Amino acid sequence: MPNFWQKLKQPIIGLAPMDGITDAAFRYIVAKHGHPSVIYTEFVSVNGLLRAYEKLKQDLIFNKIERPIIAQLFGAKPENFYKAAKIAAKLGFDGIDINMGCPDKSVVNKQGAGSALINQPELAQEIILKTKQAVSIPVSVKTRIGIDKPITQEWIKNLLKTKPSAIAIHGRTLKQMYTGKADWREIGKAVKLAKNTNTKIIGNGDIKSYQQAKEKIKKYKVDGVLIGRAALGNPWIFQNKIQPTVQMKLDIMLEQAKLFTKLLPNKPFYNLRKHFAWYCKGFPQAKALREQLMKTNSLQDLQGLSLKLSNKLKIPQVPSGFNPEGTEVTL
Ligand SMILES: Cc1cc2nc3c(=O)[nH]c(=O)nc-3n(C[C@H](O)[C@H](O)[C@H](O)COP(=O)(O)O)c2cc1C
Repeated sequence: MPNFWQKLKQPIIGLAPMDGITDAAFRYIVAKHGHPSVIYTEFVSVNGLLRAYEKLKQDLIFNKIERPIIAQLFGAKPENFYKAAKIAAKLGFDGIDINMGCPDKSVVNKQGAGSALINQPELAQEIILKTKQAVSIPVSVKTRIGIDKPITQEWIKNLLKTKPSAIAIHGRTLKQMYTGKADWREIGKAVKLAKNTNTKIIGNGDIKSYQQAKEKIKKYKVDGVLIGRAALGNPWIFQNKIQPTVQMKLDIMLEQAKLFTKLLPNKPFYNLRKHFAWYCKGFPQAKALREQLMKTNSLQDLQGLSLKLSNKLKIPQVPSGFNPEGTEVTL
C-alpha cells in the first residue's frame, strides 16, 4: 500500500485533530475551502469503537474530498488498537494516527491513554507495532514533548524505533495543557533525530497564519505542520492570501450548518454555535450578532438571521458557490 506521507506536496500544512470540532461537517468545509495537505478526525476511543460501534461510527464518516484522511484513535490496550485499526482501514481511511498527546484527565488518569503513554514508553511501542501489524495503511503518532518537562530526545527516539510513518509533535508538555508557548526548538530536536529515517516530523503549536506555517517549516526544518485553533472560523488559512469577506463567512456558516444537520442528525444543533462565534469574529456588530447566533436552534433560524444580516450590511444575495436550498453537496 503506497505511503501517502511520502507523496504529499510541499509545503505540508494539515488540519490538526480537535475533539468536538473536527467533525465530518467541519472537515468537509475545511477540505473544500482550505485544501489542507492532510486531515485528521477527532480522536475516537478504541474501547468505545469496539463496544459501541453504532454510536461512534458517526465520528468516522468522511467524504473523499477530505483525502488523505486519517482516523485518530486513543486508548491504552494494544489488542484493542489492533481491532479498531482494522475497522478504520475497512472504512477506507488513508492512515491511522495514535493519540499520545491528549492531556485530559478523563483520558490520562482514568484510561492511561493520550499523554499518559509518554510515561509508558514500552506500552507506547507495543501499541504502535500492534496497530502496524493490523493494517497496511500508514500508522502515525501525535504527541507532546513530555509530561512535566520536555523529554523530547528520549521520547521521540523511543517512538522512532517502531518506524511510524509520521510523528506530529505539539511543542508543549502535558502539564502545560494549552498555556505558555509551544516550544519549537524541542520540535527541531526531533527533526534531527529523524533525519535518516522514513518518519516525517510534523510540527504543531500556535501557528496563526499560512505565512507562519511556512516560516516554521523553513526555520525548524520540519517536514510539515498542523494547524488547529487558528483554523476555527478560518478554514481558508491553509491557502496563501485568501482574505475571507463577511459574505464568505456567512455563506460558509450556512453551508456547514446544512452539512451538519444532514451528516450528523443525532448531534445537537447547538454544537455549531461555537463555530458561528468563531466565524463572526471581527464582523461589524459582532457582539450583537453573536448573541443572536447563540440562540439559533435550527438551520431555519440561521438562514433567517443570515438573510437579515446580509440585508442590513447591504450584501447582495446569491452567494458565491452555495445555494442554501440546493443539493450541491452530495455525500
Ligand atoms: C478543543 C480542542 C480539541 C482537541 N482535540 C484533540 C484530539 O482529539 N486529538 C489530538 O491529537 N489533539 C487534539 N487537540 C490538540 C490539537 O490537535 C493541537 O495539537 C493543539 O491545539 C495545538 O495546535 P494549535 O496551536 O494549532 O491549536 C485539541 C485541541 C483543542 C483546542
